Amino acid sequence: LDNGLARTPPMGWMPFERFRCVTDCVKFPRDCISERLFMRTADLLVSEGYAAAGYKYLIIDDCWMEKERNAITAELMADRERFPSGMNHLSAYIHNKSLKFGLYHDIGKRTCMHLGPGAHGHYSIDAKTFANWSVDYVKLDGCYVNGIDLNTAYPAFGQALNKTGRPMVYSCSWPYYQNHPNFELIKKHCNLWRFADDIRDSTESIAKIIFNYFKRQDNLTKHAAPGSWNDPDMLVLGNYHLSYDASRLQLAMWAVLAAPLIMSNDLQSVRPEIRALLQNRDIIEVDQDPLGIPGHCVLMSGNIQVWLRPVMPTNNIGARSFAVVFANIGDYHECPLCPQTFRIILQNLGLKNQMGYTAYDLFDRKRKVGLFKPKDQFTIRINPSGVEFYKFKPEDIY
Ligand code: DGJ
Repeated sequence: LDNGLARTPPMGWMPFERFRCVTDCVKFPRDCISERLFMRTADLLVSEGYAAAGYKYLIIDDCWMEKERNAITAELMADRERFPSGMNHLSAYIHNKSLKFGLYHDIGKRTCMHLGPGAHGHYSIDAKTFANWSVDYVKLDGCYVNGIDLNTAYPAFGQALNKTGRPMVYSCSWPYYQNHPNFELIKKHCNLWRFADDIRDSTESIAKIIFNYFKRQDNLTKHAAPGSWNDPDMLVLGNYHLSYDASRLQLAMWAVLAAPLIMSNDLQSVRPEIRALLQNRDIIEVDQDPLGIPGHCVLMSGNIQVWLRPVMPTNNIGARSFAVVFANIGDYHECPLCPQTFRIILQNLGLKNQMGYTAYDLFDRKRKVGLFKPKDQFTIRINPSGVEFYKFKPEDIY
């Protein structure tokens, strides 16, 4: 969507994968979807260094609404018990921390968790409510859409947002709810869109999303660009189930795919080594690369996949740098859960700059691993459910 927003993939935080739809704040005061959770997270985004690393959007997911609209004005209302100070207060709190405020809604008749009303029949009123609350980002889900044509509904809600005059990033779940999404259309109307299942806190779930992308990569890759991104769903690093290697896997893959980096975790209990991963500047730089060209899988052999993304800078004759993920996922190999050695001649990956490339290990503060010519062999060892992630920077030609 060409609205001047999301020129690089949005970064931020969203509760759903971790906090789901807990509404009992008496029994679960720390975990319930409430203003307290969002204020605490706003504080932590800043104090723990995430905001400075780029994680700016604090997005409320499902389960924030009163069950019904205001009987007189038909406006949406935040749950009075869990958001006692009101949305304007929370929005100001978030903005005062120099963060951006995101809010969930649904294009259908109810939200997915069925707690609140959907936008159906109320596009203009809801868009105005969001603008009045100074919302910066809208996530629009697609549940309870019987009899609703998503191909007209999503654009119409987008127009209602646009009419308010307030710039709001528009995140659509539209293609996820269709068998044959029309990405040309979706890309015109949305800044990002979900294309795969809801993520869960597991390596399998991450691998499934990566394979989903792989199968459709020609179609998905060509539609991503500044202002319009494929969204493989939230980052689940920092929760319960991912090993350190699988945490690296998700982060590197999301960066190479030019995916939004929206964490879903409890920032108070993210371990320091995972926090360091999430704040790895060199990997974030790949994700946020200004060319906005997503990577694609150039090679899949057994458990090994190689994903390549063209990034800045280019050399003096315009040869590009590449961010390259070497991933070890799946269970094809005779020893699926072992480290694997992988060897490749660089030109077989399309790295053909005559003077060669300097390779940097992106997980190791850009440690230089050497200079490689196109005919040189690059050898690495990759942990199971893990990745190695390098940037190959072309040398100048004299
Ligand atoms: C389905 C979406 O895909 C999830 O990300 C989340 O927003 C839930 N709905 C909320 O009900």
